[in-house]
Amino acid sequence: MSIIEARQLSKSFQQAVKDSGLKGAMKHLVAPKYIDKIAVKPLDLTIEAGESVAYVGPNGAGKSTTIKMLTGILVPSSGTVTVNGINPHKKRMENAQQIGAVFGQRTQLWWDIPIIESFSLLKDIYQIPDLTYKSNLDQFVEMLGMNEFIHLSARKLSLGQRMRADLAASLLHNPPILYLDEPTIGLDISVKQKIREFIKKINQEQRTTVMLTTHDLGDIEDLCQRLIIIDHGCIIYDGSLEQVKRHFAKERRIFFQMASPGPQLFTEITAASGLKLDVLSEMEFSISFDRYHFTASDVVSRVMKHGEVLDFRMEESSIEEVIKAVYDGNLDLNQTM
Ligand SMILES: Nc1ncnc2c1ncn2[C@@H]1O[C@H](COP(=O)(O)OP(=O)(O)O)[C@@H](O)[C@H]1O
Ligand SMILES: [Mg+2]
Repeated sequence: MSIIEARQLSKSFQQAVKDSGLKGAMKHLVAPKYIDKIAVKPLDLTIEAGESVAYVGPNGAGKSTTIKMLTGILVPSSGTVTVNGINPHKKRMENAQQIGAVFGQRTQLWWDIPIIESFSLLKDIYQIPDLTYKSNLDQFVEMLGMNEFIHLSARKLSLGQRMRADLAASLLHNPPILYLDEPTIGLDISVKQKIREFIKKINQEQRTTVMLTTHDLGDIEDLCQRLIIIDHGCIIYDGSLEQVKRHFAKERRIFFQMASPGPQLFTEITAASGLKLDVLSEMEFSISFDRYHFTASDVVSRVMKHGEVLDFRMEESSIEEVIKAVYDGNLDLNQTM
């Protein structure tokens, strides 16, 4: 049996329908009306032990709702879910022992007590043996660089410190499954890096199954072999990141700023087959190209022959673009790969 198995799992929420203004509010008091808002349409999901899966999609796609059903926080509207052999929302205590969960938007730490005291409370709650606790704590403090803030209360921590503390807290009891909902949102790159290294180590060395939602392509690249894309409550892709990238990242685009990009330059670029020019303003333009036919330095040096380049940047392909492309019909992931 797979470690996570969901069959036809769905979730709807009741949403109040109100007309605007005071009259609408009064009417709602007397005769409230509701509609069903479907957050997750019936979906099947199978995840094997030790996998590291990125679960991505635009805002409102249904990512958090899925994770909350898998963690047992939300009761599904239909379907079945089994996590490590048990039904998470029916056996909440047993389930808690086998999962760690971090929600980037809020903390599981006690707000007013020092982090180390929160950890110690978790030790009692999860009945973590002394030796396990001590060895995990030492390792997490070291790897996540928590020494400088472990005696402060959660209230006093920066976002990056708080995320590190939350991550450590979720793993003290050695759960075989770790859910991370936007764990790197709003963090600077050095903290992101620490967190990624840590998750990677836990996944590789302990074989902890990781399911991660993120908007950061770097997180996915560093951590996940498998990518699941969800939109409007439906899974629209389930496969490797490599496949998506190979296909999608074929086209690259470089934006240039030049004091006076000459007409000669534009003629040359337009004439070259495989280069596409977009003039954006008097001083700005971009060139798109197939990365299998041109290198970036190739394109930049062609431009530099024609004058001083003030600035240039390469457009990064973000996961949002992949999803947008799928939805605009520009990229049918299942057909084309
Ligand atoms: N408690 C709730 N009550 C009503 N609607 C909700 C609730 N939670 C989420 N939704 C709605 O369900 C949809 C999916 O939300 P969510 O799972 O949070 O998306 P994501 O995490 O992908 O951004 C959204 O349209 C959201 O407004
Ligand atoms: Mg969310």
